[in-house]
Amino acid sequence: MSAVQQVTVLGATGSIGLSTLDVIARHPERYSVFALTGFSRLAELQVLCVQHRPRYAVVPDDASALELQSNLRAAGLATEVLVGEAGLCAVSADAAVDCVMAAIVGAAGLKPTLAAVRAGKKVLLANKEALVMSGALFMQAVKQSGAVLLPIDSEHNAIFQCLPGDYARGLQTVGVRRVLLTASGGPFRETPLADLECVTPEQACAHPNWSMGRKISVDSASMMNKGLESIEACWLFDARPEQIEVVIHRQSVIHSLVDYIDGSVLAQLGNPDMRTPIAHALAWPERIDSGVSPLDLFAVGRLDFERPDEQRFPCLRLAREAAQAGGSAPAMLNAANEVAVEAFLQRRIRFVDIARMIESVLNAQPVQAVEALDAVFAADARARELAGQWLAGR
Ligand SMILES: NC(=O)c1ccc[n+]([C@@H]2O[C@H](COP(=O)([O-])OP(=O)(O)OC[C@H]3O[C@@H](n4cnc5c(N)ncnc54)[C@H](OP(=O)(O)O)[C@@H]3O)[C@@H](O)[C@H]2O)c1
Repeated sequence: MSAVQQVTVLGATGSIGLSTLDVIARHPERYSVFALTGFSRLAELQVLCVQHRPRYAVVPDDASALELQSNLRAAGLATEVLVGEAGLCAVSADAAVDCVMAAIVGAAGLKPTLAAVRAGKKVLLANKEALVMSGALFMQAVKQSGAVLLPIDSEHNAIFQCLPGDYARGLQTVGVRRVLLTASGGPFRETPLADLECVTPEQACAHPNWSMGRKISVDSASMMNKGLESIEACWLFDARPEQIEVVIHRQSVIHSLVDYIDGSVLAQLGNPDMRTPIAHALAWPERIDSGVSPLDLFAVGRLDFERPDEQRFPCLRLAREAAQAGGSAPAMLNAANEVAVEAFLQRRIRFVDIARMIESVLNAQPVQAVEALDAVFAADARARELAGQWLAGR
C-alpha cells in the first residue's frame, strides 16, 4: 500500500459520502481521493470534484457525463468522467485504489461493492443492503480475494471494536454469548399506534439523533433498518440470528455491546456522528482525529434501555423471519422494502403499508436457493415485480 492511500468514494454525494470526504480532508498526508460517484445530485458532485480533484468521477448516463466533463475541463481539472455501473465497478477495482467506501444506497451498490471485494481492496461497508441481499456469496468473495472488510454502520463498527481481533475463530470460541444491537427507536418510538396511520415522510425523516439519507431515515422509523442490520451482523460476525438481540437505547450514545460468557459486557460509546466509525475504519488499526467532539457524559446524564415492541415495529419480525428462511428471502425483503420506502416517500402509500406490502411480497413467493449472483438479482427483480403489482392492486 502506498504512503498516501487512494480512496474511491461510491455515493460521494450522500450523507456517508460527505462525512467520509470531511474526514479525508482532515488528513491530506494519509488519503487522496481517487474517484467520486454521484447519481442525481450532479451539481454537488461537480463541487466535490473541484474540492477534492479526483482522477475519476462517475455519473449514471452519457448526457450527464458530457456536461460534467466539459464543466470540469473549464475549471481546469483533469478528472475523467466515467458512466454507469461499468464506471462504478472500474473505479472500485482499479489497481491504483487502496480503499473503497461503499456508500451507495440500496441494491444499486451491490455490483460495485462486490467489484471492490473481488479486487481484494480494503472495503468500508456502509451499503448494508449489498450484504443483506447476497450474504453468503459476498462473504465467500471476501475470503477468496483477501479483501479487508470493515463495517461502517455505527452498530457493527462498535461490535467490531468490542470483539477480540481473532473473532473469526467463532463467536462461541472467543467467549461471546450475545451481541446487543442498539436502536434509537426512531421518531415514532412513542407515537400512539393509531397515529402511525397518518404520519408523513417529513416526520419519518426527522430522526431524533442522526442526520442521514431519506431511505435509511424511513428504515429507522420502521425499524427495518435494525432488521437489515441484524442480518448484516449475522454475516459480518458469523452469528446465528438468535445470538443477536435488539435493544432500544433512545440516547444513541452506546452504539452496540458484546456480552461475554464471564458476565463482562463491552460497549462502544460516542456522540452520534458517522465520522467516528468512518475515521475508525479508514485508519484501522490506527486511530485518527475524526472531527467529532468528545463525549460529555455529564451532559448525556442517563442511558435508557427498552425492549422493542414488534406490534409497533412489524418490520423487525419480517426481517427476522427472512433471516431464518435464508436463500432468496433476504434479497426479496430488501427489494420489497426499497419499493415500499420509495412509494411512501412519494406519498403513494401510508407508513403502515410498508410492512404490509413487504409481508405480502414475501408470502407470494416460495424461498429459493441462491447459489450464484444471478439468483440474487432474479429474487430482487421478482420482489420488485410483486411489489409493483401490490401497489397497482390497491
Ligand atoms: N447516513 C447514515 O448515517 C448511515 C449510517 C449507516 C449506514 N448507512 C448506509 O449507507 C448507505 C448510504 O446511506 P446515506 O444515508 O449516505 O444515503 P444518501 O444520503 O441517500 O446517499 C446515497 C448515495 O448513493 C447514490 N445513489 C443513489 N442511487 C444510486 C444508484 N442507483 N446508482 C448509483 N448511486 C446511487 C446517491 O447519489 P445522489 O445523491 O447523487 O443521487 C448518494 O451518493 C446506505 O446503504 C445506508 O443504509 C448510512
